[in-house]
Amino acid sequence: MPLDQTRTPYFQALLEYVDSGVLPFHTPGHIQGVGMDLAFREFVGDNVCAIDLTPMPGIDDLLQPTESIREAQELAAEAWGADHTFFLINGSTSGNQCMMMAAVNPGDKIAVPRNSHKSMLGGLVMSGACPVYMAPEVDEELHMDHCVTPETVAQTIDEHPDLVAVYLVSPTYYGAAADLASIERIVHGAGKLMLVDEAWGPHFHFHPALPLSATAAGADLCINSTHKMLSAFSQCAMLHQKGDRIKLDRLKAVLKMFLSTSPNLPMVASLDVARKQMACDGAALLSHAIELAEEARRRLNRIEGLYCFGEELQGRKGVFDVDPTKVAVTVKGLGYTGYEASHLLRHRYNIQVELADLFNVVALFTIGTTREAAERFVTAFEEMARDDRPVDMYAPSGILEQRLNRGNYRLPKIPPMRMLPRDAFLAPAEFVRFKESKGRICAETISPYPPGIPVLAPGEEITRDIIDYVRLELKAGIRIQGPYDDELKVIRVVRE
Ligand SMILES: Cc1ncc(COP(=O)(O)O)c(C=O)c1O
Repeated sequence: MPLDQTRTPYFQALLEYVDSGVLPFHTPGHIQGVGMDLAFREFVGDNVCAIDLTPMPGIDDLLQPTESIREAQELAAEAWGADHTFFLINGSTSGNQCMMMAAVNPGDKIAVPRNSHKSMLGGLVMSGACPVYMAPEVDEELHMDHCVTPETVAQTIDEHPDLVAVYLVSPTYYGAAADLASIERIVHGAGKLMLVDEAWGPHFHFHPALPLSATAAGADLCINSTHKMLSAFSQCAMLHQKGDRIKLDRLKAVLKMFLSTSPNLPMVASLDVARKQMACDGAALLSHAIELAEEARRRLNRIEGLYCFGEELQGRKGVFDVDPTKVAVTVKGLGYTGYEASHLLRHRYNIQVELADLFNVVALFTIGTTREAAERFVTAFEEMARDDRPVDMYAPSGILEQRLNRGNYRLPKIPPMRMLPRDAFLAPAEFVRFKESKGRICAETISPYPPGIPVLAPGEEITRDIIDYVRLELKAGIRIQGPYDDELKVIRVVRE
């Protein structure tokens, strides 16, 4: 019998505690806001403070759920079509780490796309697994990379029959989705595990116009950042499990290791409520978001110099489907870099986008986007396009010209792996000047951000190509995530 998706058992348990008037002598120390800095409390509101509690009788424990969290997770599993769902409070970052720790052992081979989020590398370091990198499809026209194709997955399995698991990222940060159904047939047909980082697709399961969700495609494990595209608080995510290939006892043990013993309860409650919202009203809410996004896309595409990809991209290599709620605007035709456009949007129009890269800005049109906001977004671009800006993409620094001439503009060639990520990460290390580090084995992660895709992982040899690429990124003002030295004057390498 279907569960009652209008229920929010965990949120309800918190409200009941508040209503009961219990005299609290427990964590957190602010005691339902009484001891909290007044200005902060007044701003965030008494109610958030009142439900910031701790597991106790009547308030279930995320680490050992037996009551309301258990029910809330069962409701979520039903809503997302999973067999089991687990709430996470450290984002899909911890989800990636948990998936790897649950699925692979030290030395096990796992196929991973090179354009994975850096948290995948955390999973490799923690699990001790051996990555086999799969190249994502590079779109030279849009200057972005898409998903890996079923052909790439099949070829990787052919070349590495000893693979234990295949890990995928779908959708990408830009909204391209992989052909998960075909990949599932290939992966499971070969007897491998299928893990999907669906951080950007928690909404897919709730609307027919959105790409097929990873659970519907039959992934053994997948993660959703519920906070990214749905309404849960930041850091809130879910891990979905399906089928009998993953050992549930191992997965549960891993989750216990990763979860705080003091989860933030308003966050956990926001997951419970976000699930109810999707299960009950998801289709209608998402229809509205999709309609606004498609309308904005149509209008943006009428502006000379702009391109905002949509469903016409389906069928391009690495793009099986497209998430319409990601509005990726290629601005290079206006003579702006994506960074400049993002800066202008913020400083002239008071609009903040999710992501900017050299050529694009990406805006999220979610269930929280209003018609007024969409209108302001489009109008800002209309105004920007009317500006008399000389097209200076290739001047004065020459950075863009160099980038355009590189062919593979974003991802330099994957360097040779000399050690397992875990071994390099844990090995005795030293610092050397980055520009003189050619030939050394990297002991940290180097990810230009956005979009946070590593160009160097622990265990990989530092090549001239990568040094040049990263120095170009630094020159263009891009932040590099991962290194000990934020400016990357020095890099952490394995001691020789
Ligand atoms: C593809 C992908 N996976 C995982 C993550 C990490 O998610 P979270 O921020 O929820 O920890 C991100 C974050 O941007 C991401 O883009």
